Amino acid sequence: MYRTLLLTTVAISMAAPAFAQELNLYSSRHYDTDERLYSDFEEATGITINRIDGNADELIERMVAEGENSPADVMLTVDASRITRAENAGVLQSIDSDVLNEAIPANLRDEDGKWFGFSQRARMIFFAKDRVENPPATYADLADPAYSDMVCIRSSTNTYNQTLLASIVTHEGEQAATEWAQGIVSNMARDPQGGDTDQLRGLVSGECDIAVTNSYYFARALRSDVDGLSSGVEDIGWVFPDQDGNGTHVNISAGGVAAHAPNRENAIAFLEYLASPSAQEYFANGNDEFPVVAGVEVGEAAASLGEFKADDVSLAEVASNIPLAQQIFNTVGWE
Ligand SMILES: [Fe+2]
Repeated sequence: MYRTLLLTTVAISMAAPAFAQELNLYSSRHYDTDERLYSDFEEATGITINRIDGNADELIERMVAEGENSPADVMLTVDASRITRAENAGVLQSIDSDVLNEAIPANLRDEDGKWFGFSQRARMIFFAKDRVENPPATYADLADPAYSDMVCIRSSTNTYNQTLLASIVTHEGEQAATEWAQGIVSNMARDPQGGDTDQLRGLVSGECDIAVTNSYYFARALRSDVDGLSSGVEDIGWVFPDQDGNGTHVNISAGGVAAHAPNRENAIAFLEYLASPSAQEYFANGNDEFPVVAGVEVGEAAASLGEFKADDVSLAEVASNIPLAQQIFNTVGWE
């Protein structure tokens, strides 16, 4: 009796993988609109998505600890710094997908196919229209003594600023990047505090005259009520920096196939789906970001910021300069 049962169990568990249409998604992105995106994929393919949410570093740690037994198929996260941390930890594998290589610009993906950007966010300059007559037009301008005590920007522990400074290192070199960071510290209106939205709130409260934040935080305040911000959006102006130079620094939401993905084919199918025009609209618009695939319509709130030239420097190269950027932050005392 026992033996029969055991055999039956073994037979079932052996048969299971052949029929299991599953995808285990380790994600540190959690926007409501992503739900619709996943259910559309499930309906179209019959593949069930199992989601494991967590912050990026927790997920990476978990994948490292799980090793070869990790059930992870796909990892999704935001910021080039985090996805390259996953790459460096060895939890992603190379894939060669013509669909992804053709749809996604080369500077927004890893050249070995370990990760791909699926939406972009611009790091922008916002300003109080009634207090700033001549707003900075470039990142370099932000460090000009003309803007002394006017600039609000969050702490150097924040990945967005690390990646921005790493892009300046990539373009201008270590010395110029250090001088720039020093200039920003001198121009700070207050010690770094809060998130990106708090820098924008500072424009409304009058604590800040100029704020550096990602595009989607402002776009969100245009289309929904953000406490302490939406009431004052009319008085805020914005600049896409460096339009006559390298273009505005952009960062990405990104994903890659896990190193030991048990459902590798499903994982590739899912990433290819994320690069499809319909998924691109959801993925980008859900968080007021910009699509990475050409020709996909930008959401209303993000589109209202206007068109801009994005910096097309390789984000993989930029990410390799993040350790140096962190040293520079320490050197200049950017909290
Ligand atoms: Fe953010």
